[in-house]
Amino acid sequence: MLCLASQSESRMAILRAAGVPFDAMAARVDEDSLKASLLADGASPRDVVDALAEYKARKVSSKQGGLVLGCDQVLVFEGTIFGKPTSPGDLRDLMRHMNGRPHKLLTAQVLYKDGEPIWRHIGRVDLTMRVLSAAEIDDHIETHWDDIQHSAGGYHAETTPHLFDDIKGDWFDVLGLSITPLINILRAHGAAGTAKRPVLAGVLGCPIKQSKSPILHGTWLWQHGLQGMYVPVHVPKDQFERTIRILRAAGFAGCNVTIPHKEAALACSKEQSAAARAIGASNTLFFRPDGIVADNTDAFGFMENIRAHRADWSADGQTCLVLGAGGAARAIIFALLEDGAARVFLSNRTSAKAETLAQEFGERVHVLPWDARSSRNTQIDFLVNTTSLGMDGQPSLEFDLSGLRDTTIVTDIVYKPLETNLLLGARHMGCATIDGLGMLLHQAVPGFEGWFGTRPTVDHALRDAVLA
Ligand code: ATR
Repeated sequence: MLCLASQSESRMAILRAAGVPFDAMAARVDEDSLKASLLADGASPRDVVDALAEYKARKVSSKQGGLVLGCDQVLVFEGTIFGKPTSPGDLRDLMRHMNGRPHKLLTAQVLYKDGEPIWRHIGRVDLTMRVLSAAEIDDHIETHWDDIQHSAGGYHAETTPHLFDDIKGDWFDVLGLSITPLINILRAHGAAGTAKRPVLAGVLGCPIKQSKSPILHGTWLWQHGLQGMYVPVHVPKDQFERTIRILRAAGFAGCNVTIPHKEAALACSKEQSAAARAIGASNTLFFRPDGIVADNTDAFGFMENIRAHRADWSADGQTCLVLGAGGAARAIIFALLEDGAARVFLSNRTSAKAETLAQEFGERVHVLPWDARSSRNTQIDFLVNTTSLGMDGQPSLEFDLSGLRDTTIVTDIVYKPLETNLLLGARHMGCATIDGLGMLLHQAVPGFEGWFGTRPTVDHALRDAVLA
């Protein structure tokens, strides 16, 4: 089995995603002084990165036989190796200097077998940082400092590709490991197992740190033993198209899209599903060689969640009440009408937004004033809250439940907490209640299947993983 002479999280994540059997042992090496002495001897950046990778491999190889991999990555700008920024101010100066100019990342790996070097490879990526405004640089440093302060150049191109005009090279070299040539050499030595270059997908949004999608898709990849990687990508409001271009060029299979880019996602596509077109937004993109296909899986996820709890349920002929008139409400109204709902009452704090939606969706949708949102309770078969009210940290939803029948189904798209006050009150009245977590899980199914080739299932293990 391969031994990785490093504890680098990102290299271990790539090996795991590719399905390479390995263990890891840190090679304690004083990289800074080694680098300094190599540079003092006039070594080129390629020689330096190769020597550092070799040194780590040799060190671990001296302790154990078998295959040992040493790796290193350096950033080279104007012929000089750049290290980690020493402070936010230092990084600000460096980024100003790199603005609009090309630099490169060199990723070296050296493989030892039983104490002898048998293979070496240097991957090269050419990047051009775009001309960033002072405000963009400050925003980048403020948002990402905790993550980037230990990285050469003070960025993670893979999580903020919008910083670049161009990234030419293999995406895994950007991440720090030349996975394809590595798998080839491991295969020749019978140490690759069933390893394959991982399929890439991710979620684009701003903010993105809170997204549950990486855990969700990561759990499925692991459950199904698939070679794939699903990553969060931070994309400021006006940088969506640039990011999509870079990710497509990097070979991504597609991505999920969240706030504030769902409309832009639809606009960048060549082909749209009926749901995406009707909802006017896309949360799931498939990158095909001839263009981007946009889907919206929120309506699907919503219905699947209800049916996971009530297999025989249908909106056919039902009277529904939808609270809220944002993006989620739009998808849910589409789903209910498609499924045959007789009437949808729509109530929103800002009534103009409800009126607009009602006009778009036609005569089965009726607006209820926000103050009168409980006034049709005796007629309601199905009630859903699509507002953010009731979510941890938000005000709770004031809704008078009196008059609801115990046959009414009450659901919420809020899943933090799992049982909102609305659901708690409805449960006490004898209504069937359905929490909102399932919608999040089910809406992810079509994307996962399209990118990674296996239709996943939503089970308790997945719920637990996302809630943890
Ligand atoms: P999403 O895409 O998740 O639906 P959104 O488009 O921001 O998110 O919509 C949020 C919904 O929650 C809106 O219907 C919003 O009402 P407004 O249209 O009046 O803004 C609703 N909402 C948020 N905070 C609210 C509050 N304090 N009281 C009532 N409704 C609220």
